[in-house]
Amino acid sequence: MIASQDEGKEAVMPINRQWVLRRRPAAEVGPDDLELVEAELPELKDGEVLIRNLYLSLDPTHRIWMSDQDQYLPPVRIGDVMRGGVIGVVEKSRAASLPEGVIVNPGLGGWQDYSVASETVARRVPHLAGVPLTAHMSVLGATGMTAYFGLMDIGRPQPGETVVVSAAAGAVGSIVGQLAKAEGCRVIGIAGGPEKCRWLTHDLGFDGAIDHRTQDISAELARLAPNGVDINFENVGGAVMDAVMAHMNTFSRMPLCGMISTYNREGPVAGPSDFARVLMHRILIKGFIVIDYLPRAAEALAVLAPLVASHHLKWKTHVVDGLENAVDALGRLFTGDHDGKLLVRISPEP
Ligand SMILES: NC(=O)c1ccc[n+]([C@@H]2O[C@H](COP(=O)([O-])OP(=O)(O)OC[C@H]3O[C@@H](n4cnc5c(N)ncnc54)[C@H](OP(=O)(O)O)[C@@H]3O)[C@@H](O)[C@H]2O)c1
Repeated sequence: MIASQDEGKEAVMPINRQWVLRRRPAAEVGPDDLELVEAELPELKDGEVLIRNLYLSLDPTHRIWMSDQDQYLPPVRIGDVMRGGVIGVVEKSRAASLPEGVIVNPGLGGWQDYSVASETVARRVPHLAGVPLTAHMSVLGATGMTAYFGLMDIGRPQPGETVVVSAAAGAVGSIVGQLAKAEGCRVIGIAGGPEKCRWLTHDLGFDGAIDHRTQDISAELARLAPNGVDINFENVGGAVMDAVMAHMNTFSRMPLCGMISTYNREGPVAGPSDFARVLMHRILIKGFIVIDYLPRAAEALAVLAPLVASHHLKWKTHVVDGLENAVDALGRLFTGDHDGKLLVRISPEP
């Protein structure tokens, strides 16, 4: 904390800890790639609020943003605060629409203790009885929207179809599978380890689960999906994607949501090994990024919020305490050593 003189009265200005990108990671993100620095907070302008960040969302795409590969947003520049989604509480306000004490989502608040946002950008987080704040960082946030639009808009599930989801026990995948079940589909999840696979079949009602660490995905799919795959909700890429694509039916669909198995690698990423199958079987593959769907957010929330409120949709959050642990925690997304949507608790909820 810094003490400053304000009209003779001593005011205490908080220090803002920020994770700054120091260099582009060569493979897995390491301790020297980012640095935790302290900065003073800027004076608020009219229409702005100072937000004490409560939770930071850690997402696989942060690894992409740290690189300078061709991507859907500008790479984070060396020396800049690491970009990331947060929610927080308004601590100081010069914006009539966002008084002190309200919970807001400032968009991309960054890996830091405090964010400053304009009232034209920050959105109030609605209070839903019985629903924790963290739900707005997972099932009712970008995670839920990714699952909803990828499945419903691109996958277009029909009752009786077979849906395969990779990274199925993760934040996005677990929602996809439950939504597909609600559409009357047969759902097979691919996940790492017996605990995650058991959660899919015992708790979420998936029809089958394949442990990609110990099982032959192709052989298991032949057993669990003997009529082939109509929708492959792709989260992993690489060998997992290849194995599933070999089972995709004629006129099947593949919402290409993510390729996490490739994000720590340098250079061009290989596509499907049997690309001709896309032609022969008229498979629709469509990459998508959730930010393109933000104008339609209300459409997804109108479906997801009632399912959450009525406990028909399950989700998990894995909360790591302390902004100082954010870099270490990010690695968990790539080892699978987390149980649900990965968040960092930056400061206590009010
Ligand atoms: N397109 C979009 O707008 C959008 C938005 C959000 C997320 N995504 C993508 O969706 C995917 C899932 O993201 P999420 O936020 O929901 O994370 P998550 O699934 O909660 O966590 C990532 C999981 O990926 C699995 N994984 C990591 N490396 C792997 C590998 N080499 N092979 C197989 N599985 C691996 C691990 O699960 P196991 O322990 O089960 O192996 C890990 O827990 C990512 O590809 C992400 O980039 C895309």
